[in-house]
Amino acid sequence: MQKGFFATLINIAFVVISANSFASKQTIQPLNQSTSDLVVTQKVAASASSGEAIYNKTCIACHGVNGKGVSPSFPDFTQPGGMLTQPYNVLLYNTIHGIGSMPPKGGYPSLSDKDMKNALDYIMLHFPPGSTPAVGGTPELQQIKQEIAFLTQKVAKLEAAQGISAQTPSNSNVNASPSVAQGKHIYQKNCSGCHGANGKGVVASAPDFTNKGGVLSQPRGTLFHNIKLGMGSMPAKGGNPSLSDSELKAVLDYIESTFPSGHGNINTKNKKGNAPNNQITNTQQPSTAETAYFWPNPDITGLLTGGASAGYSTQMKRGSFDILDFNPLFLFRYKDFLFMQSSVDFSLDNDANTIVGLNTLNLNLFLNNNMILGVGEYDTPIGYFVQNLSPSWINLLPTAPVGFDADEAAPQSQLGSQLRGGFNLGPTIKANYIGFAANAPRAFGDSTTGIIDHLSTDPFINNFGHYIGGGRIGILPYPDFEIGMSGAIGKMVLLDTNTNDVLDGDGHYITYGADFSFKWSHWDLRAEVIQQKITSLDADSFPQSASWKAWYVQAAYFITAIKLQPVVRWSGYTAAVSEQSLHQVALGLDYWIAPSIAIQAAYEINTGEAAMGNNKNPLLIQLVFGF
Ligand code: HEC
Ligand code: HEC
Repeated sequence: MQKGFFATLINIAFVVISANSFASKQTIQPLNQSTSDLVVTQKVAASASSGEAIYNKTCIACHGVNGKGVSPSFPDFTQPGGMLTQPYNVLLYNTIHGIGSMPPKGGYPSLSDKDMKNALDYIMLHFPPGSTPAVGGTPELQQIKQEIAFLTQKVAKLEAAQGISAQTPSNSNVNASPSVAQGKHIYQKNCSGCHGANGKGVVASAPDFTNKGGVLSQPRGTLFHNIKLGMGSMPAKGGNPSLSDSELKAVLDYIESTFPSGHGNINTKNKKGNAPNNQITNTQQPSTAETAYFWPNPDITGLLTGGASAGYSTQMKRGSFDILDFNPLFLFRYKDFLFMQSSVDFSLDNDANTIVGLNTLNLNLFLNNNMILGVGEYDTPIGYFVQNLSPSWINLLPTAPVGFDADEAAPQSQLGSQLRGGFNLGPTIKANYIGFAANAPRAFGDSTTGIIDHLSTDPFINNFGHYIGGGRIGILPYPDFEIGMSGAIGKMVLLDTNTNDVLDGDGHYITYGADFSFKWSHWDLRAEVIQQKITSLDADSFPQSASWKAWYVQAAYFITAIKLQPVVRWSGYTAAVSEQSLHQVALGLDYWIAPSIAIQAAYEINTGEAAMGNNKNPLLIQLVFGF
């Protein structure tokens, strides 16, 4: 059940890159290379002794005795070209006002600005960074940065080798001037890794240069300034500090002549280039694919991501190592108009046989910047959990809320066609939507007992001539606040559990859901209700209708200083067969070793008719890794 975490993955990647660009943006010469080195050192020494006391009391919890940070998510002050190579006043400002997950004044508002200055002086003196030119950030950030640089070079090489030039609009005058030719070379080496040979952007949030009225319609001075100093998640000079002003001008000449976008009015929504992409991200859509690996053919980009979990659980007072799951997700993209996504699930059954399941496999066409049409197997867009949260490192707890697993109240996957997109409802309000048509679901009944046992939305190939249609609309008043409504209606088929004979060929099916998620400061709050119902059954000996209903409310709080995240979830499931109904309170504690690696422990208190035996009150512990 580990699926559909694409959106979150991209968000995380994006945040990581953003953090990184901040570090590189403000870079100056490392302290020990600066001409005023000596003066600074002397000044610093005086204040550093009281700074030492403050550091040891206030800052050490996160930054460690050696300044290397107590876990990889804290910056390593000693790292060559790391955070301490930023200008002193930037560091002081950030220390006083907080930055990223560091609270203002390290969480001690009663300390004075002078105290902060002293603590910073102590840091500068005791943990001086090395002297290599800035790369910045923690090891993970550095690695991402290196990957981008590596890919950029690789693309440039491939393009050079194959004589591929950027897809130039007809009126372009590439090679018209030496500056443009030089600019092209610089672009391929330093910019195309993120912006693409065709200027349409390959990484999350890179703007489409070819958009009419897009970013390139801004004044040249603004563009130059932003390229030089960096902007959002774009590093200064595209991450290559050695580029001179004239080289940057040349690359700007190249961009402007190759991807003319018409100097019209500046559309600030388009300027953010990523506006449609952000919405798409929220509906777990692929256009924001982070391109981490390139195929030999530069038109094709591919990415392998996924997650894995392994762990231990107790059942009826006896424990065993029984949690094991590997869920790779494959993403492939042809140029900027075709996208494939497939996720597979590997796990073990009781006899140690490997179970492999195809969770999703779909092919999608980008109709334009904000609209995608696709066909194949998808996570269901009804509700939110199944589509976006099921992997544990996103779910925060080792299990799904009761009723949200396969063949319970929440539909899981669908074989059909989807149209997805996003739009702006106002300056800050965004919306995303998914509409779909899919093969009919099946209900399974036991004709010997007259009980409708379960309903399944597995990707059945034979739909007995029936479809369901529906969708979801999500409204985001703020980026981290989403309210969703979803539903679908159509026909279904009732089959005999024992013989698979068709008992009723055209019952009615209806499902609906409402969901809410809100991230605020260190809080992560969400709630959801979902229902599936079948009616108008006319098979003898079965009830005319049956319904499956589930809901959950969840709150999690991230304690930055100790990387712990307590989670409470209350969930309920009412099944057509009352013996399957369950209520659960799950108490979890996650320890985050890195942004997508956690140790999760949960104690689940179950009540209801199904709360017996294995289900009573399990304790689960697992290690999860999203990659
Ligand atoms: C709760 C954990 C925590 C505490 C306590 C803490 N820091 Fe930090 N600090 C961080 C994190 C996380 C970052 C990286 C922030 C980012 O860039 O996202 C950071 C970054 C910094 C930086 C680099 C800022 C920059 O501009 O990139 C300095 C300097 C710093 N801390 C100084 C201090 C001092 C001085 C104290 C004690 C008064 C302190 N920190 C206490 C977590 C902490
Ligand atoms: C690491 C990825 C990355 C690299 C490398 C990169 N860019 Fe960008 N670029 C971005 C992103 C992301 C944005 C959007 C920033 C935003 O809107 O916050 C952007 C925006 C821009 C913009 C629009 C700025 C504006 O005012 O809206 C220009 C122009 C640009 N980049 C040019 C370049 C050039 C020239 C290079 C090479 C020297 C380059 N970029 C390298 C990611 C990158």
